[in-house]
Amino acid sequence: MTTPQRADVVRVDPEHPDPTVIRRAAAAIRAGRLVAFPTETVYGLGCDAFDDDAVAAVFVAKGRPAHDPLIVHVEGEAMVDRVVAGPLPTAARALAEAFWPGPLTLVLRRHPDVPPAITAGRATVAVRAPAHPVAAALIREAGVPVAAPSANRFGHISPTSAAHVVADLDDRCDLVLDGGRTDRGLESTVVAVTDHDVMVLRHGAVTLEDLRAHSPLPVVERPRGDEAVQSPGHDERHYSPRAPTVAVVAGTIPSADAVPTDLRTAEGVVYLGYGDRPAPVPDGWRFEDLGPRADLDQVAHDLYEILHRVDAARPTLILVELSGAEGLGRAIDDRLTRAASSVVVREVADLPAAIHPG
Ligand code: TXA
Ligand code: MG
Repeated sequence: MTTPQRADVVRVDPEHPDPTVIRRAAAAIRAGRLVAFPTETVYGLGCDAFDDDAVAAVFVAKGRPAHDPLIVHVEGEAMVDRVVAGPLPTAARALAEAFWPGPLTLVLRRHPDVPPAITAGRATVAVRAPAHPVAAALIREAGVPVAAPSANRFGHISPTSAAHVVADLDDRCDLVLDGGRTDRGLESTVVAVTDHDVMVLRHGAVTLEDLRAHSPLPVVERPRGDEAVQSPGHDERHYSPRAPTVAVVAGTIPSADAVPTDLRTAEGVVYLGYGDRPAPVPDGWRFEDLGPRADLDQVAHDLYEILHRVDAARPTLILVELSGAEGLGRAIDDRLTRAASSVVVREVADLPAAIHPG
């Protein structure tokens, strides 16, 4: 039996990446290999978007179903033209001018040269120009658009550090560029742009309010129940710890006394709440601070790091309190809800039923 090849992990300065390291990583991309690299949102698992075999390898490495399309990462306008059919719609141009490079993904008409596997056979392609100096330098040096999903196995928590990538994908990628922790901590916002409107398919680092301030067309939210059609990879269960996880509506636990008796003495329960208004949890539970609810940038930045750490301690139950906030709160609550496989309780008394459904 051969020992599986471990990924090479190479440190790189996030602000001023060493050109030698970038050249090595770019050569690996051009040779059809898989390279994990930092972006301003989360780490991506990148490959040459025009290399069918490499794209197939990304799906295998992640254990990702073929119906879930990948985001293509570009650097500079010329690369956009290689991926998108025809001129950009006016609204796409306005949004790209406002938010690129940055954490916004535009779903546009696919150029016929883009391999169908990337778009899961769709007529549209998701495109983003990342702002992270390492990501931008890598794509520029590779000279090809880079397809990159988040560098985690399908359904797992997204990686915000190289250590997360190695823990989850280990021997499944060839090279990991370690640029430290990512800045935003949450994935990009994904929007579908048509001639009529801009539809938010996934909340993310760019808020609805930001989009509305810059879009010449109405910005609408995806109709509920329309997930599979519009945003194929956005399953109910995602970003998930291994422990059973339940989301709690903001401010639900007014006192430890309100917790049902059988849970009051339960061991290994972790309650993730907000440090600036901590819930008084029962004695045996652990309160884990997601950060101040008044500073959602910080909450977003630390969210996956905390989920990874809490999950690694193998708790028996994780309760996550939703922020109930607008702005970034929408993306935070989306991820927390999916981490809980959409099991959300509104009343503390509902907890046991939620934990032992049926
Ligand atoms: O911040 C990010 O977006 C990170 C970094 C690495 O750029 N990438 C990321 O990729 O989160 P991934 O594959 O984990 O999520 C991409 C999302 C999925 O929900 C996928 O279904 C959606 O984008 N998507 C991709 N192409 C699409 C398309 N043509 N139409 C609709 N949704 C699409
Ligand atoms: Mg992902």
